[in-house]
Amino acid sequence: MKKNTSFLPVKHGLHGDIYVPGDKSISHRAVMFGSLAKGKTVIENFLDGEDCLHTIEIFRKLGISIERSRSSVEINSEGFKSFQEPLTPLYLGNSGTTARLMPGILVALPCYTVIYGDPFLTVRPMDRVVTPLKQMGAQIDGRKNGNFLPLSIRGTTLTGIEYKLPVKSAQVKSAVLLAGLFAEGETTVIEKAKTRDHTENMLRAFGADIRVKENAIRVTNKNDLTACNVTVPGDISSAAFFMVAAAVVPNSRITLKNVGLNKTRSGILDVLLDMNATIHITNQRKISGELLGDVTVTYSHLKGTTIASELIPRLIDEIPIIALLATQAEGTTIIKDAEELRVKETDRINAVIDVLSTLGANIEEQKDGMIIHGKTSLTGGKIKSYSDHRIAMMGIIASLITEDIVTLDDTSSIAVSYPRFFEDLKSITNE
Ligand code: S3P
Repeated sequence: MKKNTSFLPVKHGLHGDIYVPGDKSISHRAVMFGSLAKGKTVIENFLDGEDCLHTIEIFRKLGISIERSRSSVEINSEGFKSFQEPLTPLYLGNSGTTARLMPGILVALPCYTVIYGDPFLTVRPMDRVVTPLKQMGAQIDGRKNGNFLPLSIRGTTLTGIEYKLPVKSAQVKSAVLLAGLFAEGETTVIEKAKTRDHTENMLRAFGADIRVKENAIRVTNKNDLTACNVTVPGDISSAAFFMVAAAVVPNSRITLKNVGLNKTRSGILDVLLDMNATIHITNQRKISGELLGDVTVTYSHLKGTTIASELIPRLIDEIPIIALLATQAEGTTIIKDAEELRVKETDRINAVIDVLSTLGANIEEQKDGMIIHGKTSLTGGKIKSYSDHRIAMMGIIASLITEDIVTLDDTSSIAVSYPRFFEDLKSITNE
């Protein structure tokens, strides 16, 4: 359902604590690995966003017993032999992570499956996972020679490969490593730049034989993982919206509690510091192999920066909200080497430039990023979400500092990653 919503700027700053919801990437993986593992897996602080709920539904259709109560999930599986052939196609919704990781598992299961998604997922590239999986012997076909959903997959025996990732993508890395669990011999993935390493961390916790040496990750055959409980840290990609809100709304100070601080994800903190934001990180600790802590951000006078190369995969999902941050910084901010943004939930370079230009920002489009000239005061206006959760949330955070009312065509996509977004926003506005 489309919700057309208007937002007014806040007057007195943002204050308070927010417990951001569980990490989306980690929640998906916990369901996948828990389903492949023998025994009982309990996941705490699971993200109940639509994307992760699709992952749960898929494993239920594949015969795995999964129970949910509030933010905890219990999976009972006997491993590989629990899986059954589903009678109907498996629906992925809008979830790119489910679309890219699931083929890595389905190619090895003794059954035939079809996966399909919503209209936005249906136009996102799939050849990035289909190509290496076919090299391992997988039987996959799909629209446009397997480049687009729907894909049909017939499970078969696989052989390990050494694969140099042509794209900086944790999703592709994870698909190949998952197939590697079922393949004969060893499978090695070599990355151009380090991407999020949740798959490696969690597979190790579930008993896989996985070794990481610089940018090479090697896994050996292990049909059945061993169940293990997972506590999901707060999602830094969701926290990022409120970090930026605190940095740009005058008189603000917000603490984001229990935020995942894994180095492969925390690029936004480096950028905030580099732009002169005032940040304090406290209460750092490790849970389920992942670092987390509390992040306090205070309103600051910001300056422009350059965001490029190895930093990009460490903040790829935060670029829309970083672009808003840059409109409030003195000087120029350059974002480059980020061509992957063109194939996210929407073309995010195009969407960010459209939304922020409509609100009066001074941004130039580049093939692989954008150049933002600050500091500009933002006006109100009618903006589009492009049915992309991160564009919608960026537009709403922008509305906190605009001179006039902002009207957004549709906020329903936010449920994909942050169903509690409006409650959390209300709790810090105190108006
Ligand atoms: C994800 C990896 C990233 C990210 C996506 C989640 C994951 O995609 O944009 O939201 O969970 O592995 P790529 O790895 O394709 O860049």
